[in-house]
Formats: sequence, C-alpha cells, structure tokens
Amino acid sequence: MKITVVGAGAVGASCAEYIAIKNFASEVVIIDIKENYAEGKAMDLMQTASLMGFDTKITGSTNDYSKTAGSDIAVITSGIPRKPGMTREELIGINAGIVKSVTQSVIEHSPNVIFIVVSNPMDTMAYLTHKALGIEKNRIIGMGGALDSARFKYRLAEALGCPSSDVNGMVIGGHSDTGMIPLTRLAVRNSIPVSKFLSEERLNKVAQDTKVGGATLTKMLGTSAWYAPGAAVSSMVQAIACDQKKMFACSALLEGEYGLRDISFGVPCIIGKGGIEKIVALDLNDAEKAKIQESAAAVKKTNGLLDV
Ligand code: LAC
Repeated sequence: MKITVVGAGAVGASCAEYIAIKNFASEVVIIDIKENYAEGKAMDLMQTASLMGFDTKITGSTNDYSKTAGSDIAVITSGIPRKPGMTREELIGINAGIVKSVTQSVIEHSPNVIFIVVSNPMDTMAYLTHKALGIEKNRIIGMGGALDSARFKYRLAEALGCPSSDVNGMVIGGHSDTGMIPLTRLAVRNSIPVSKFLSEERLNKVAQDTKVGGATLTKMLGTSAWYAPGAAVSSMVQAIACDQKKMFACSALLEGEYGLRDISFGVPCIIGKGGIEKIVALDLNDAEKAKIQESAAAVKKTNGLLDV
C-alpha cells in the first residue's frame, strides 16, 4: 500500500507520522513545493522508525510527482492554513488553484488513486476535485467530519467528566464554524443518550464549542491545528488501506441523498478499499433537516465562487 501526502506542513507531516506509527502501509511519499522540505520531514520521521517500531518507508520529494507513481491513496493538505480571525472560506482564492493543480499531477501518475481532501474550505475543495477530475465519486473523500466528530467527543467527554472512549457522537454538515451539525440527540455515553446526563443548555454549549473547535485552536496557536487533523486523516487512510468498512462522517458528492445534489457535503459514509462504499441515510427530525439545508446552502454559496 503506497500513500502520497501532498503538503509537508504540520497537518501533512502529522498525518504521515500517524500512518507510519500505525504500521499498516509499506510506503508514504511526502511531496511539497518548498525545496528539500518534504525530504527533511521524511528523513526526520524515518529516524524515529527504530524508536517507534515501524517499518513503513517514508520518502520526501520536492514537487516531483513521478515519485508518487502507483499510489493507492493521496492525501491533499496543500494550500495555506487560516490565521486567527479568518474563516476557512476566505482561503478559497489561493487554495482552489493549488488543489486543482496538485490533484491533476497526482492522478497523472496514479490513475486509480483514492483522494482524501483536507485543504480548506474543505467541502468546496472536494467538490472542485470532483469537477476538475471527473472520476468516480467514491474516489474523492473530504476530511472534515472525522475531525469534527473527534472534537465533539472531546467536548462531550469534558462535559461528562469521562474518557473520550466512553462516548460516541458524530458531526455532519459543512466543515465550517457555522455549518457543522453536531448530532447531540444521537450522541451516547456507553449506549445511553447523553441527554440523560447533560442539560439541554450544557449540550448546546458542547455543540457550540465543537463548531468553533478549529477557530479556537487557530486563535491559540496562531495557525490551524495539526494533531487531530493528522490523526483523523490517518484513521480514514487506515480504513481504506485495511478495508475496514468503518463509518465516518465525511464530505461525499451527493446525488439526491439528504435531499441534496451537486454538492460535496458531510454525511455518514462507510469507508473501505473502494473509498466511499456507501452513504448512510439517517432518520433526522425536522430541526436537524433544516440545519442540513442551511449548512448546504452556505457550502453551495462558497462553491459558487469556484471557476469550474
Ligand atoms: C481544522 C482545519 C483542518 O478544523 O480545518 O483544524
């Protein structure tokens, strides 16, 4: 299993690190435009192999896509991250050109690759990749929901005073400060609805803290986060590589599901060796359905800024 990570920034490097530590891939190629940067990150990571106990071979390349040839999965993290006070949507102008060009370069050398798009604004960048490449829709996955759901579980565990492993919950909708839809009604602590333990007011705070999870960290760090994004991507890569058929909320091209079409949007999906193998329908109430329509309208507005 060969995996390409485009972008050797903090998210790309964390993603490569977690993939290597989990030891399921034979090869990870990191590629970046900055001279020698990906090579340096790859070398630094390879020098952890004997300490961390992995056999994955990590190499780096400065913009030579021939080195990525034959990749099964490509993670697209390239582009600029947001600075404090910026929305993800404000990155579209610069990132659209970058994402279009790197995904085209990847597919030239790996015609059967499955893409995981991380660059922001993520739902729009995943949609752009669909439009630019025109490949089967199951082969382009937007990473947002896996990260947002992990942040939701963190906030739920914090509110409940329990470990994250005791809770389960999912965030669907657009990967934006206002578009995320944490499904508080369906969240559980060891199979018991969390509403049994938390007041409506506390649950609303959990949902709000989840939605601004990325913005909160951007303010604290001066740039966007990388550990949880890298870990979320690596879990999705592992689900594909190991054909796990695992459910993640992720940005999928919709063709009528949830009443939406011609949009890449966060919904529950089964992820396995075919990429998005199935989109899962949920029984949502009217309030949740209304939130989906509102969130999708905002994503479509951002998509409207694309030149496709
Ligand atoms: C975040 C970026 C990856 O939410 O969108 O941290």
